[in-house]
Amino acid sequence: PETGSLSIVVLGASGDLAKKKTFPALFHLYRQGFLPADEVSIFGYARTIISNDELRERLRGYLVRDKDASSEELEVVAKFLHLIKYVSGPYDSEDGFHLLDKEILEHESLKTSAKGLSRRLFYLALPPSVYPSVCKMIKTCCMNKSDGGWTRVVVEKPFGKDLESAEQLSTQIGALFEEPQIYRIDHYLGKELVQNMLVLRFANRLFLPLWNRDNIANVQIVFREDFGTEGRGGYFDQYGIIRDIIQNHLLQVFCLIAMEKPVSLKPEHIRDEKVKVLQSVVPIKDEEVVLGQYDGYRNDPTVPNNSNTPTFASVILRIDNERWEGVPFIIKAGKALNSRKAEIRVQFKDVPGQKQGRNEFVIRLQPEEAMYMKLTVKQPGLEMSTVQSELDLSYRQRYQGVKIPEAYERLILDTIRGDQQHFVRRDELKASWEIFTPLLYRIDKGEFKPFSYQAGSRGPAEADKLLEKAGYVQTHGYVWSPPSLE
Ligand code: BG6
Repeated sequence: PETGSLSIVVLGASGDLAKKKTFPALFHLYRQGFLPADEVSIFGYARTIISNDELRERLRGYLVRDKDASSEELEVVAKFLHLIKYVSGPYDSEDGFHLLDKEILEHESLKTSAKGLSRRLFYLALPPSVYPSVCKMIKTCCMNKSDGGWTRVVVEKPFGKDLESAEQLSTQIGALFEEPQIYRIDHYLGKELVQNMLVLRFANRLFLPLWNRDNIANVQIVFREDFGTEGRGGYFDQYGIIRDIIQNHLLQVFCLIAMEKPVSLKPEHIRDEKVKVLQSVVPIKDEEVVLGQYDGYRNDPTVPNNSNTPTFASVILRIDNERWEGVPFIIKAGKALNSRKAEIRVQFKDVPGQKQGRNEFVIRLQPEEAMYMKLTVKQPGLEMSTVQSELDLSYRQRYQGVKIPEAYERLILDTIRGDQQHFVRRDELKASWEIFTPLLYRIDKGEFKPFSYQAGSRGPAEADKLLEKAGYVQTHGYVWSPPSLE
């Protein structure tokens, strides 16, 4: 593995994302030995004027979650916090970034094992509106100085609001950094069961011959949250559920389910296939979209009273290729629903002459990671009747004692290792915006209205009708419950 000094700079260090996700992920990596103290320094950069200690104190609460944390644990946290330095400055002035560069250089000269190699990772936990200026400042003031090192930037969604703005952003950043230096993070790609998709599909004989239009009736990719936009109404109203969840997170999952087998497992080969399947998606039809907005959404003072922004959407995607022609992919996401879960549900076609309930293969991304296959079996006992049951691989039960890493933890490690497999490439981003931009324009113009639904419900009833129309057959009376730990 590479050695040398490693400087991790979190820009937007006092923001929500940094506190809740970025720093805790760095902490977990540190605790597992991936960020050795003799190589690593972490810098927080933001506009707020605070001291090193103030930042450390603010972060401590996000790192120590347990009130009864042991003294060893507290000591690890303290050591980690000690690696963090804070630099304050604006996002568009060279002064601040020169100061940052000076701090980084000082750190680089101190780390004795560094041998001159300088590795610099810039994590932009910031709104995209400042990406171009921040990237410009990094490029002008903070690039690595040695030949053997590198400079990488990590950017978060939203990458634009539509095709045009996304392309504009890509062009601006692309003028400063090469594609291998740009890591567009989509944290769904860091989830355990999302990372498992390709192995599952291509390393199991069982799935190979079945994964197509001859056997699969429909596929659902569902995201539900049981809370509303709490405190984020201002941001959310500008974007809506399609831009917040579907165009990125669920579409990435869609790619992994639907794409062809890549030439190899190299990041470029995988991403080539993702782009191809995105480009094969046909234009979305109005009658295959249901939008919703929960009652009470507009009560948020940061949301306009006449907001047309959907907090729920169900959209059918159709792929024009040999494998998938005629198979609806129902992509559904909603806030303020009756439960919190994300899952993929592959429903197989009927067995001729048998109407007992269809086979379904379900991949539960969260919570309670699991994969289960719904089957028809004989009811055990003397009677000869059939019943719905399942083959169940529940991770908590099967992999006891294994801690599933947080998505951000894994992805940040990839950025340090230089592996772009689980990051979104520019052409992939473009293809994903191409799919949704026409629909988004119509919603933005108020031409497409959301149905209202009650907070805490299943969402608008129209979405269930759409599901039925798409050919999904519900098995009544069957409920999967994760096995308990005995
Ligand atoms: C974020 C969205 O990208 O993902 C949020 O902006 C959403 O609105 C979150 O709550 C969901 O992530 P997870 O990992 O909790 O499913």
